[in-house]
Amino acid sequence: MKNTLLITGGAGYLGQHLISHAGSWRTHATYFQTPPPEGLQTTWHHCDLRDGGRVKELITSLHPDVIIHTACSNRSLEEIEAIVPAARNLAQGAKESPCRLIHLSSDLVFDGEDAPYDEKSRPKPINDYGQAKAEAEHSVAALFPKAAIVRTSLMYGMDPVDHQSRWLLDGLNKGQTIQLFTDEIRCPIWIHTLTECLLELTRMDFSGMLNIAGPDPLTRWEFGLGILALHNRTPTERIVPSTRAEAGLIRPRDLTLNIEKVKHILNIPLLSLREVHQRHYSRDSTSVKPTVESTS
Ligand SMILES: NC(=O)c1ccc[n+]([C@@H]2O[C@H](COP(=O)([O-])OP(=O)(O)OC[C@H]3O[C@@H](n4cnc5c(N)ncnc54)[C@H](OP(=O)(O)O)[C@@H]3O)[C@@H](O)[C@H]2O)c1
Repeated sequence: MKNTLLITGGAGYLGQHLISHAGSWRTHATYFQTPPPEGLQTTWHHCDLRDGGRVKELITSLHPDVIIHTACSNRSLEEIEAIVPAARNLAQGAKESPCRLIHLSSDLVFDGEDAPYDEKSRPKPINDYGQAKAEAEHSVAALFPKAAIVRTSLMYGMDPVDHQSRWLLDGLNKGQTIQLFTDEIRCPIWIHTLTECLLELTRMDFSGMLNIAGPDPLTRWEFGLGILALHNRTPTERIVPSTRAEAGLIRPRDLTLNIEKVKHILNIPLLSLREVHQRHYSRDSTSVKPTVESTS
């Protein structure tokens, strides 16, 4: 008998990957405004996660063993405003059920002035999305201390192409000028690595904060060129280096996450963009995909 995994944001980027690779779980997934993508083996449930009654009803009826809460990112103001109520409703539901909860957070809870950030670093957000993610972390930890809270960084992948890479590739295809910052640092993570880590975490009794990010801090410029190389595309003169100051933007400068803790807890190789590229273009290209399936 398979155990039950509930994935929120099943139609989102991370959600789709989790559904695809959660082979030995019986999965249920929520969607809200995006119709469920075809071809994913799961049971879909329409749910506005801001609706506490609906969240409670869903958890009570499904009795999940684990919830992975991926929903509520930064695609719109409405979505940002849903971050805190959704997190509270899920933490309350997981506590009452009870079941395990893995809550997805972001490196953008920091201001970028004190990197590298470990799990004890205190949030200091400088934009609305970071503020909401920080408040959600706080609410989840206060309501349900047994929850795992995972801070991650930019996700990238090829099947399908992630939001950031799609923006870059579309811009290149249209001949647009694209500025990539040389003074903004993140730790991008291969979507299959993150998926594999989260599924491994479902099998463990882990509580508290955990950074899961790529091993190499990269500027947006380095990351962009690496993504083009991964897609076997040659940069044009319209892909230009720039800085946040030149663009007149206030954004976190360096969001490097310390990943020593996850390296000790999980036995998953955290691939760099260079390693992903090497594996993708080697004969053994399947090795960039998760090899470990949930056995729960
Ligand atoms: N993508 C990154 O690079 C990145 C970096 C750091 C952290 N994160 C975090 O990782 C998680 C997953 O990110 P992602 O890029 O996979 O997200 P995504 O593709 O933008 O998907 C977000 C999902 O949230 C759902 N959603 C929004 N409002 C909702 C509501 N009121 N009720 C129910 N569902 C709602 C959306 O559902 P519908 O489309 O059906 O409306 C969508 O499926 C997020 O928590 C994000 O903050 C992402």
